[in-house]
Amino acid sequence: MTASKITAAEVREMKGRGQKIASLTAYDFPMARLLDQAGIPLLLVGDSLGMVVLGYPDTTHVTMAEMEHHVRAVARAQPHALLVADLPCKSYDTPERAVANAQRLVAAGAEAVKAEGGRDIVLQVRAIIASGIPFLGHLGMLPQHVLEEGGYRIKGKNDVEHEALLADADALVQAGAFAVVLELVTAKVAAEITRRIPVPTIGIGSGPDCDGQILVTPDLLGLLPWYNLKHVKPWLNAADQMRTAVKQWKDAVETGTKP
Ligand code: KIV
Repeated sequence: MTASKITAAEVREMKGRGQKIASLTAYDFPMARLLDQAGIPLLLVGDSLGMVVLGYPDTTHVTMAEMEHHVRAVARAQPHALLVADLPCKSYDTPERAVANAQRLVAAGAEAVKAEGGRDIVLQVRAIIASGIPFLGHLGMLPQHVLEEGGYRIKGKNDVEHEALLADADALVQAGAFAVVLELVTAKVAAEITRRIPVPTIGIGSGPDCDGQILVTPDLLGLLPWYNLKHVKPWLNAADQMRTAVKQWKDAVETGTKP
């Protein structure tokens, strides 16, 4: 485990060293502490928290106040990892709002912010970076647009999407993003973007050739079996283990074998 604080510049440099970046989401103090102890270099307080912690049907309902609340909890773990926070839906519709809300997340403890989009948000990205806040891009399937798009679809399957992804990735790099998340991008296009841009690509459901991978931690741990996700195979069956432990304890209390 790295003892010193990891910066956005260091995450960016990992690509040059050929060092793969294993990133995870964190939404609260204990999870942040455990993931940091496991040596994860980038922790994202993702707006996925709307679905996996707060029970919303999608991420479009998440507010700035909810993001700040969870960023504060993760920051209290004082992780060595770079702490990135998502700007939630509609919080960055102008450059001024993007900067003001990015500053709120930084005041809560974030060290970098992420927002969804490419050429359409390049003014916001430039403004955020000009204010001194490192920026992580997010291209491909954009969950904050799930309602307009009518579902979670893989991106890059046709020429129009392919060209748009390349142009968006170039725009984010030119604007100064230190890395770019690629969500549900075809493995072929994700590999092409990874070869093309000088900053790391961090994939989720985008094949093995990205510079790093990111997962929603409860998906990795098998905590949410009611989501049937194709892009992730849980490495633990935490839901079953929890149910079994709770049932055993309940039985012990009810039978008087455990006071
Ligand atoms: O909100 C989130 O957790 C994310 C990851 C899926 C990259 O954006």
